[in-house]
Amino acid sequence: MKALEGVRVLDMTHVQSGPSATQLLAWLGADVVKLESTTGDITRQQLRDVPGVDSLYFTMLNCNKRSITLNMKSERGKEIFTELVKTADVLVENFGPGAVDRMGFTWERLQELNPRLVYASIKGFGPGRYRAFKAYEVIAQAMGGSMTTTGFEDGPPLATGAQIGDSGTGIHAVAGILAALYQRQTTNRGQRVQVAMQHAVLNLCRVKLRDQQRLAHGPLREYPNKTFNDEVPRSGNASGGGQPGWAVRCAPGGPNDYIYVIVQPVGWKPISEIIGRPELADDPEWATPEARLPKLDKMFQLIEEWTIRHDKWTVLDRLNAANVPCGPILSTKELIEDESLREEGMVVTVDHPERGEFFTVGSPLQLSDSPVDVRTSPLLGEHNQEIYGELGVSADELAELKTNGVI
Ligand code: COA
Repeated sequence: MKALEGVRVLDMTHVQSGPSATQLLAWLGADVVKLESTTGDITRQQLRDVPGVDSLYFTMLNCNKRSITLNMKSERGKEIFTELVKTADVLVENFGPGAVDRMGFTWERLQELNPRLVYASIKGFGPGRYRAFKAYEVIAQAMGGSMTTTGFEDGPPLATGAQIGDSGTGIHAVAGILAALYQRQTTNRGQRVQVAMQHAVLNLCRVKLRDQQRLAHGPLREYPNKTFNDEVPRSGNASGGGQPGWAVRCAPGGPNDYIYVIVQPVGWKPISEIIGRPELADDPEWATPEARLPKLDKMFQLIEEWTIRHDKWTVLDRLNAANVPCGPILSTKELIEDESLREEGMVVTVDHPERGEFFTVGSPLQLSDSPVDVRTSPLLGEHNQEIYGELGVSADELAELKTNGVI
């Protein structure tokens, strides 16, 4: 038994934001039926590494789903969709604004067909002035507060590698869908769930809007910046939070030979001993967080004078042995080879019928009564016969639908 066993998700998502949400639902045990156009989710063909085989872009975002094809612009396609909606608990889509309405399925129509349906949409923006605009990951980062606050003070705004606009929004969508399913148990009605990428990124940038308001009361002393105007500045690798942190260099000086170190008040004494400057533990110029605050750059420079002489793993061990929070910058190669991530089921091997084995990132949601078993993504239309058979479509009609470009 899985947490979402018995929940049928009709998954009309494509690219990343929507598929990241429905993959999580599948890992929680829902029966996710991915409905694709006859040419398939565009990512099946994007960034291909093996000719003619579904890309890793697709296979890493669509595990544990079944796939059907359906041409929503054909009359028979619309009829079949009508039947599918009646069997679904959840419908999820992330097309450009208005696409599902243009297919003939407004929220009103969907409710008529299935009053218990939870209908979730991911869009770039909310219903305000940006509502008609399409969006991609970095556009959401640009318009949700991430790019303005990422980077160094003297450089341009930067995009982050974490896909907060796409997968970050997908996770928000999952929360909305689960809440709607829970509420349905009481109301016996479905509801509309709408999530916007700009909103999700803004939610993740919440603390930066905290700092925007703090600016009214003076400079942000936790930031390394020397001057402030009326906007939160980019602050490099500063944590900007309650405890100062910075990425310091380690040996032998490669692009990922860095470790992020946080200096909690209790951490200063052990750090000063480890770096060979024990006298700084009680020096009034350095002993308290208040004394260190105006010279955080100098403090991290002192720490770096020690870390630069050791590799990041040694530094990790030495600082953790003294209970000092720190984290080496792990490269993508190091992550995919990390033994503990493999043991924890966060880097898993999947066997794909056409590409063979590949690695994917497992489920970060670990439930004691609903273990996740990561299985391959489906081939395009692999489950047409299975799913359309359930609706009573005969083998003959299936062949005809294929010839006519309906599936
Ligand atoms: N059968 C027939 N037509 C189908 C179909 C099917 N099964 N599935 C989709 N289509 C059609 C739609 O009807 C639509 O056609 P229309 O514009 O004539 O009505 C079209 O395919 C899809 O349009 P759209 O989603 O706008 O695709 P796009 O490639 O132009 O834009 C995005 C891609 C990602 C920019 C856009 O989908 C978007 O803004 N989505 C919301 C935000 C989002 O999730 N972005 C992140 C992506 S990771």
